[in-house]
Amino acid sequence: MKKLIIGNLKMNTKPSEFKNYAMTLATKVKGTKNDVVVCPPFTHLHLAGELLEHSKVEFGAQNISDEEKGAFTGEVSASMIKDSGATYTIIGHSERRGKYKETDRLINKKIKTALANGLKVVLCVGENLQTRTAKQATAFVKKQLDEDLKGIYENELDSVAIAYEPIWAIGTGKVPTNKDITKMMETIRNEIEYLYSAKAKEKLTVLYGGSVNLSNYKKILANDTVNGVLVGGACLDVENFAIMCKETY
Ligand code: PGA
Repeated sequence: MKKLIIGNLKMNTKPSEFKNYAMTLATKVKGTKNDVVVCPPFTHLHLAGELLEHSKVEFGAQNISDEEKGAFTGEVSASMIKDSGATYTIIGHSERRGKYKETDRLINKKIKTALANGLKVVLCVGENLQTRTAKQATAFVKKQLDEDLKGIYENELDSVAIAYEPIWAIGTGKVPTNKDITKMMETIRNEIEYLYSAKAKEKLTVLYGGSVNLSNYKKILANDTVNGVLVGGACLDVENFAIMCKETY
């Protein structure tokens, strides 16, 4: 079964460094059955378009503006991202929800904007440690899905992947047990069934993210309920990331 492997470079690498990164990744993952996506900073997107055009590596943005165009200093629109050749955008990453105070309402608007411009969306959801300790993780993630997907039509879900990224696992080296990951994957799928239909549940792509690295990725990807991974820190080393991308199941 093929998986979706996404690298989120966050605010790392300069365009000049990304050139080598993108070319190495494209060469190393040639022939892999998995879908491979890299999300560099905005400043690298046009370069990514040139470098990755004839490769099997797709690329995307880490965020988009909720507005289409106009007087929004510092923002980058979905159509600009699409024009670079990008096919994806991450939306609702916990670093944006936390540090940049993005609300579910804003995230909902961003998803609509991305879809209207033909971008595929990786919607990130996930609880913090306090919520998990209070045994509220499931309720919390369900509420995020309800609010973030409000007004999104079922046929549009084909272009939306959900990434479960528990905040306490991001960049910490801690990962949930396989049992906990399976439980949350099921929770997410069941919520999609509740909001849409059994068919939507069946077709849904659900990813895991949070401290995925060379020593744990095999086990995580071997979990049948996991359709792929969103890798942060560990994708900065292109050789290691390529190894993860090439894994077969
Ligand atoms: P991490 O980040 O792999 O460094 O934990 C994942 C993410 O934030 O997408």
